[in-house]
Amino acid sequence: MAFLEINGVVKSFGGLRALQDVSFSVRQGEIRAIIGPNGAGKSTLFNVMTGLFPPDSGEVVFDGVRITGVLPFRIIRMGIGRSFQITNIFPRMTVFENVQVALFAHHRKSRNPFGMARRYPSVAAEALAILGQVGLSEKHELSASILSHGDQKRLEIAISLASRPRLLMLDEPTAGMSRFESRETVELLRTISREQGLTLVFTEHDMDIVFGISEKIVVLQQGGVIADGTPAEIKANPRVRKAYLGEETTES
Ligand SMILES: Nc1ncnc2c1ncn2[C@@H]1O[C@H](COP(=O)(O)OP(=O)(O)OP(=O)(O)O)[C@@H](O)[C@H]1O
Ligand SMILES: [Mg+2]
Repeated sequence: MAFLEINGVVKSFGGLRALQDVSFSVRQGEIRAIIGPNGAGKSTLFNVMTGLFPPDSGEVVFDGVRITGVLPFRIIRMGIGRSFQITNIFPRMTVFENVQVALFAHHRKSRNPFGMARRYPSVAAEALAILGQVGLSEKHELSASILSHGDQKRLEIAISLASRPRLLMLDEPTAGMSRFESRETVELLRTISREQGLTLVFTEHDMDIVFGISEKIVVLQQGGVIADGTPAEIKANPRVRKAYLGEETTES
């Protein structure tokens, strides 16, 4: 059985069909990209998969459990973590506090997590360990607001990891990053996926990144799946080349 299954998902906004009969599956440990032009429905699919939007029809099955209609916080507890296309951190807190709050939420130890670190040294250690994983150890005492864009994205990944996901969903994890920051982030994601057996589903506009890291790629266009396969299959797919990749893949 697939680890994650999207079966016939349809989602409309008024008269607009944002998703039409979207189906694909992801196996455990896979790195899977969802690509497609602006407005293709990628973020909408993320929102359906994480319970923010109920689909009009179709279902999402995660690790054998139908999660369609399950509330977002329950889906997070079931093991699906996500980041948003728009940054979602607490700018007035330090880097460390951002992760600590996320961990408290995960452990449900406190309703008032601020300044409770001393009572929960294990959580502080856990926060530092996660910051180490994403390469932010040395910046843990800085205010999140002064981080570079790339470091803010790393912090978001750290916050997502605090919920101890088995599936991590990242909507444009390298958006707005410099080339160098993007490459570092991709390496980071690859390492996290490999070391923790974490399944990764992400959207991305940079085709170098998509083809560099993905094991499987699903291509959306106007809300429908036009291709689903390995990077080699996607590059060779005439429909994708025509509809989306244009001349970008002619060298291969
Ligand atoms: N909450 C909403 N209400 C109404 N229409 C929406 C809503 N969210 C998305 N849409 C529409 O659904 C379509 C798909 O949007 P979506 O954001 O999923 O695309 P996307 O593939 O993520 O695009 P991008 O690459 O620009 O992020 C678009 O036409 C968008 O305007
Ligand atoms: Mg989007």
